[in-house]
Amino acid sequence: MFSQQFITKLNRAQTVTVLTGAGISAESGVPTFRGTDGLWKKFRPEELANFDAFIKNPDLVWEWYKYRKQIISEIKPNAGHFALAKMEKIHKSFSIVTQNIDNLHRRAGSKTVYELHGNIEQNYCIVCYNKFSNEEIIRSEKAPRCSCGGLIRPDVVWFGEMLPESQWSASVMASESAEIFFSIGTSAVVYPAASLPMIAKRTGAYVVEINLERTELSHQADEVLIGKSGEILPKLIDVCYH
Ligand code: OAD
Repeated sequence: MFSQQFITKLNRAQTVTVLTGAGISAESGVPTFRGTDGLWKKFRPEELANFDAFIKNPDLVWEWYKYRKQIISEIKPNAGHFALAKMEKIHKSFSIVTQNIDNLHRRAGSKTVYELHGNIEQNYCIVCYNKFSNEEIIRSEKAPRCSCGGLIRPDVVWFGEMLPESQWSASVMASESAEIFFSIGTSAVVYPAASLPMIAKRTGAYVVEINLERTELSHQADEVLIGKSGEILPKLIDVCYH
């Protein structure tokens, strides 16, 4: 399943960078943005996940996020997340750049995680930027408010918003310095995240894709592994680091 060239390179690599997307959390049961989530079938994510919608109808947007926060708090990291946490302990420099907001990489034990689209377990006041944990606000029936009166929003990137600058620049640096770059469970179509594998390739990385199917990236990758990340990553650990 894995080429000898890849195993040798990975075994020797000091710097490894991983881009992850919704697919790595699929085996944990994280519902996708565009899934058929009962009550929410009648809304498109673009209609709720944007700042204008929040200002116009904060209680509705809050209800939607409360529902997603509850689901995410009940699910667990899967074998793919745990395998990446193990690999971090082996390589000198190992970074995960994730498009996911579910916090599952950290919950699996990964330490260096750049979150391009934010984190649903964090929240902040839109007026004074005070931070709030989910526990502090999750019982609120209506959109929660800060003591300053400002609305509290989830710390996620909404449609039309910029990516967090510090996370983006760290992700570009990690991609440029990678000897091996993995693209895992992402359709590789949402920019700018989708440009990271190409940045890594231009600067000499061996690019490995893990996905259920071929993507836009596949023809440029050095190795394409088709299958579930929760099965392929533990196998890779067995083969590469025994
Ligand atoms: P997508 O839903 O676009 O792609 C998920 C990818 O994971 C697909 O290519 C699947 O084939 C693959 N996949 C599914 N299950 C898998 C498994 N068990 N193992 C390996 N691969 C699997 O998700 P993203 O690429 O993450 O943005 O989408 C990027 C962004 O689009 C999201 O972060 C979100 C959305 O708009 C924001 O919220 C800002």
